[in-house]
Amino acid sequence: MKRYRRLAMRSALLAGLGFAAVAGDLRAAEPDVIDRGLEAFRSMLKADPWSNPAMLDADRGQALWKERRGPRNVSLERCDLGKGPGVVEGAFAELPRYFRDAGRVMDLETRILWCMETLQGIEPAGLTDKPHPAANEPVKDPGAIATWIASRSQGRTFNAPVSHPREKATLRLGKTMFHRRMGPFDFSCASCHASPGKRIRRQGLAHLVNPDEARQVVGEWPAYRVSTAHVMTLQHRLYDCFWQMRLPELKLGSEASVALTAYLVKQAEGGTIAAPGLKR
Ligand code: HEC
Repeated sequence: MKRYRRLAMRSALLAGLGFAAVAGDLRAAEPDVIDRGLEAFRSMLKADPWSNPAMLDADRGQALWKERRGPRNVSLERCDLGKGPGVVEGAFAELPRYFRDAGRVMDLETRILWCMETLQGIEPAGLTDKPHPAANEPVKDPGAIATWIASRSQGRTFNAPVSHPREKATLRLGKTMFHRRMGPFDFSCASCHASPGKRIRRQGLAHLVNPDEARQVVGEWPAYRVSTAHVMTLQHRLYDCFWQMRLPELKLGSEASVALTAYLVKQAEGGTIAAPGLKR
């Protein structure tokens, strides 16, 4: 047992040295050169919006919206996204918002789950147990629907209402959560996202308290993530950041996920929606 531990320690040490060497090489190779290369790759994909693979998921989402499904065998076409039953155009730009029928504030993905449950009779547990795709797996059905609906707000600006007391309370909660240190690493969202120029390995970290940067990055979600080859929704992005903080699993549609989304959208207020975007 001791021998194994010594071996493990030795290999960890060697791996650490190896990592230091690699990190040194990378620094020597001027991070700017790598950043520029990656940016050139992304801008080639962006130059032709139809080359974004997320468009295929948006198409799938549109078909799912119209298809009769679930125990009640109805489509989602009567789903009210906030602008009246069935109105999809521009709906995403005004979310999250308070829904009287549900008695709570919801973001797009939460509202889609709610409509799948209340209209189609689909059990939410089946949708929230493993809600997000692994690398190289296509985004799940609610995410595909969200991708399509978000794309129908392209070019509009974020304008989520903050007039209902519950909308105000949700926003306050989101802001508090963003800045509050929690979990075994004692991280807050702000530890990684509240100052310019931070990075983890090769990943630049978005400076989300800066409205200019928030406007630029938040409007691109849901987005096709090149490194994992699938569409990732904002709920999925937050789920992963929760995991990075070693917090309990972030439940799709939970109050916490909606509150953080409300805060991010508020930061990005006035920014243009460019979903589906392309990310690293
Ligand atoms: C330990 C550092 C860390 C913490 C803490 C953290 N994140 Fe992140 N965040 C990341 C990384 C890494 C990425 C992905 C960057 C990439 O893929 O290029 C990211 C990406 C994001 C993005 C997408 C930015 C973009 O470019 O579009 C958002 C939004 C976000 N995080 C929100 C949050 C929120 C909200 C919290 C708190 C619940 C949080 N993060 C906590 C590291 C962190």
